[in-house]
Amino acid sequence: MISERDIKTLVKTKLQDDPDRFLHVIGVVRHAEDLARVTHNDEVKARIAAWCHDATKRMDRTEEIQQITGAYPDIRLSDWPEPTRHALTGAIFAETVCGVNDPEILNAIRYHATGRPAMGVIEKILFVADFIEESRTFLTASQRELPRKNLDLAFRSFLEMKVAYFHQEGMVIAKLTEDALNYYRK
Ligand SMILES: [Fe+2]
Ligand SMILES: [Fe+2]
Repeated sequence: MISERDIKTLVKTKLQDDPDRFLHVIGVVRHAEDLARVTHNDEVKARIAAWCHDATKRMDRTEEIQQITGAYPDIRLSDWPEPTRHALTGAIFAETVCGVNDPEILNAIRYHATGRPAMGVIEKILFVADFIEESRTFLTASQRELPRKNLDLAFRSFLEMKVAYFHQEGMVIAKLTEDALNYYRK
């Protein structure tokens, strides 16, 4: 794996047309590190996943589809609504460009936009950190504090909020998100 500093530089370059997105990434890195620390998990893994998670957000749609179908020939694109696909290309970026081969980091990136059943702790940390980052202005102070007290509870309630919001806005919900919801409601 290349150094964390080099990963940060690469991500900054990839998001140079979207400085607000890069600021979001910096915020998610900070939250992911904090949540890993308070839950006694690997801070480095949490940070690396956070640096990479939105790195490919600006990729054009044609290249996105080419990369995804090349790397995951069995994937059904219809299961991955367009706003979730950067999670797949983000994992490809982490693996092929940054040399990340840790499955916990790669899965955290790959499933950060959808969730999935039976998520690992680094996956939950990234999902939650992405949700509480300051540009998400719809959260109350106590909702923002919840993950530090109870990561699992925060994860489940944010997953519910995300799905409720998608329903309200008439947005397509990824199959994995439905599966995650069913899994975590049990
Ligand atoms: Fe994302
Ligand atoms: Fe994000």
